[in-house]
Amino acid sequence: MTIHAGLRFSVPGDKSVSHRALLLGAMAEGTTRIRGLLDAEDVGRTEAAVAQLGARVERNGGEVLVTGGPWRDAGRVDCGNSGTTARLLLGALAPRAGATLVGDASLSRRPMRRVLGPLTAMGARYEGGATLPIAVVSAPLRGGDFRAEVASAQVKSAVLLAGLGAEGETSWTEPTATRDHTERMLVGMGAPLRSESVGGPGRLTIRRATLAAADLVVPGDISSAAFWFVAAAVAGVSLTIEGVGVNPTRTGVLDVLRRMGADVQIEPLGGIEPVANVTVVGRGLRGVEIGGVEVPTLIDELPILAIAAAFAEGETVVRDAAELRVKESDRVAAVVAGLRAMGVDADARADGFVVRGGCDVGSAAIVETYGDHRIAMAFSIAGLFQPVSVSETASIGTSYPEFLARLAACREPTVSPRWWPHRGYTAG
Ligand code: S3P
Repeated sequence: MTIHAGLRFSVPGDKSVSHRALLLGAMAEGTTRIRGLLDAEDVGRTEAAVAQLGARVERNGGEVLVTGGPWRDAGRVDCGNSGTTARLLLGALAPRAGATLVGDASLSRRPMRRVLGPLTAMGARYEGGATLPIAVVSAPLRGGDFRAEVASAQVKSAVLLAGLGAEGETSWTEPTATRDHTERMLVGMGAPLRSESVGGPGRLTIRRATLAAADLVVPGDISSAAFWFVAAAVAGVSLTIEGVGVNPTRTGVLDVLRRMGADVQIEPLGGIEPVANVTVVGRGLRGVEIGGVEVPTLIDELPILAIAAAFAEGETVVRDAAELRVKESDRVAAVVAGLRAMGVDADARADGFVVRGGCDVGSAAIVETYGDHRIAMAFSIAGLFQPVSVSETASIGTSYPEFLARLAACREPTVSPRWWPHRGYTAG
């Protein structure tokens, strides 16, 4: 066991909810108050973008105040590493204002046609192609009736935000439920959004409207909490994260940890975005199968679940997760290469990976992160249990700048071997 037992702390604000709070606040009439906004690079990109588009963003103690207004053309908008900033903006801008979206090397490789397809059918005008840079030229939009080709909350959100400024009705059908933060926030800000089932797969329909400013609370990010849940599950200790978001479209990681054998207790605290204190108690872990409709509810947690799988007994199979290949890095390749460097038996599949855990994971390794924050954090957690280090940690600032300080605080102070009686040493 290499982390303190009985740890209890909170994690920074949810990244997905933070992007949406800034963006929808900038689209609304009046001043939106945001509590718990994530202070990290990705969200900073959205904040800078909405400021360029004409919104006023101010700090007031722990709150961020966003005052919306008519959008103006923004020129060059740098989305950095943030796919959510780029994709949501493509939709939000289309009927409202022009801008040229650019990104870093990773974001400039990520697919954008999935967003431009439905938006172009609505009359949106873009210059550019499958990847950034893309210039948006604002144009009048008309609604339409669309079906998701990939399960993506970013694409869904882009279409809904475009539909909010389009003539007629815009409908979006997703065969598999994805995170529904945009829908919850839109309804909370008075948008005419109908849903056949919020939190489940179904059809959403929106009409043109002006959003009303609101008071928004950003819960702790379950995608950040997941690193600590897995650390506790592997270490066999109890750990509680307070005030973490437990929106059912995001909690797949908790279901999987339960199936792997951990005890997971949820103490609900309420909220439009439901919040809870979540306790994970580690026990011997076993391998599991992960796939199907569960995948969008834990897509960002698959790298850290791969670490859990490495320390579990038996085989873990992840399927239906081809989307992993087009995240901040090719996360299938990055996870498998990292696990192999650690001496773990793992194979890549087109749509996921296989990890054979419980083997002799013991070699010292330097793991390449490919500049991907979630790969860097996942293998840093592996480093609690064996001598693993990562090629860089700067990427962690995109979503969880406090991660390394928390990691250091979680480690047990080094105990001199002479205090380990069971190893044949005695005190004195
Ligand atoms: C996000 C949706 C997911 C997720 C990403 C954040 C969002 O991406 O992987 O980290 O905030 O909507 P996709 O929409 O591409 O599935």
